[in-house]
Amino acid sequence: ILRMADLDLAGKRVLIREDLNVPVKDGRITSEQRITAALPTMKLALEKGAAVMVTSHLGRPKEGVWTQEDSLAPVAARLGELLGREVPLVKDWTDGVQVAPGQLVLLENCRMNVGEKADDETLAKKYAALCDVFVMDAFGTAHRAQASTHGAIRFAKVACGGPLLMAELDALAKALLAPARPLIAIVAGSKVSTKLELLSALVSKVDQLIVGGGIANTFIAAMGHPVGKSLCEADLLDTARQIMADAKARGADIPVPTDVVVAPAFAADAPATVKAVAEVGPDDMILDIGPDTAARYAQMIRDAGSVIWNGPVGVFEFDAFGKGTEVLAHAIAGSEAFSIAGGGDTLAAVDKYGVEAGISYISTGGGAFLEFCEGKELPAVAALKARAS
Ligand code: 3PG
Repeated sequence: ILRMADLDLAGKRVLIREDLNVPVKDGRITSEQRITAALPTMKLALEKGAAVMVTSHLGRPKEGVWTQEDSLAPVAARLGELLGREVPLVKDWTDGVQVAPGQLVLLENCRMNVGEKADDETLAKKYAALCDVFVMDAFGTAHRAQASTHGAIRFAKVACGGPLLMAELDALAKALLAPARPLIAIVAGSKVSTKLELLSALVSKVDQLIVGGGIANTFIAAMGHPVGKSLCEADLLDTARQIMADAKARGADIPVPTDVVVAPAFAADAPATVKAVAEVGPDDMILDIGPDTAARYAQMIRDAGSVIWNGPVGVFEFDAFGKGTEVLAHAIAGSEAFSIAGGGDTLAAVDKYGVEAGISYISTGGGAFLEFCEGKELPAVAALKARAS
């Protein structure tokens, strides 16, 4: 892949696709991680003397309709503060953009453009015509074949990967393609069904696969233990058994909790009780891993060469059920292992326990991170490779 860092951009019109799809509530940005991660790319383009246009989507708006709610206005404002300059937001931009070298403008939500999601060729060619160099830097959207990702790469005079995209790909390759071993993956979340492909892909790569959340409950049930009222997918017990058998066949381990934290209800103020897995009662809900299990997993993490972390192992939004996630977060941060964390809830946990500095790489990708870990080729990355060859 051609890298933006290696190109001379002086006086060039540069269109950068970022993923500035940040959570916005009542006009306020609630997590700016994606903006701060993209900032060095924009600064570099400005330093190189380019006329910079930045495009991104926000949410999933209806194409062809502008609404305040879907506008990138809050992002433009925050970006301006972070860059220390005014960042104009350009509304109708597909037919031409006024921007001079040394300036940076943000283009309104590209998903408002008709044809964006369908990867329409005419629209992609319009995007390509706006610039001398197209920079794909939106790792978080690299799994979408859309006009501003895959399409523009195909038709731009020059298409390259931006520093953020390249850093993401380099970090993921380090953790997954040539990992220091043992390699541990932590896959947690509410349902096995939504992470089935991830579990199946990782079980053929890792040395240990730690499961958490509702996923762990399904594994606990698959081993014949009671799970009471816990979230559990009864129709996937055989699948869980198959994943365990696959792991065993290649000498990998899927440790299952020996103790858990249970409550009679899913609520912040529900009384939390630690129980051995065999003792979970019919009215119990498993909401976290227990302290013995957390300590055992933490030790494994300290001994690991690489750690991939996706998903909190308990209902960490409620403090009484966040201990397991907190212990593992600190173990990852304190471990010498090369560690990578990705996925929305994971980043919220990283934030909550203040472990960001200890993690080797924090991905800006949600779906893209998962698809990469599943071994899938991301369409925008494939297009960049095709352009480079
Ligand atoms: C994400 O938040 O995962 C990316 O920005 C992609 O958004 P999408 O799922 O709406 O395509």
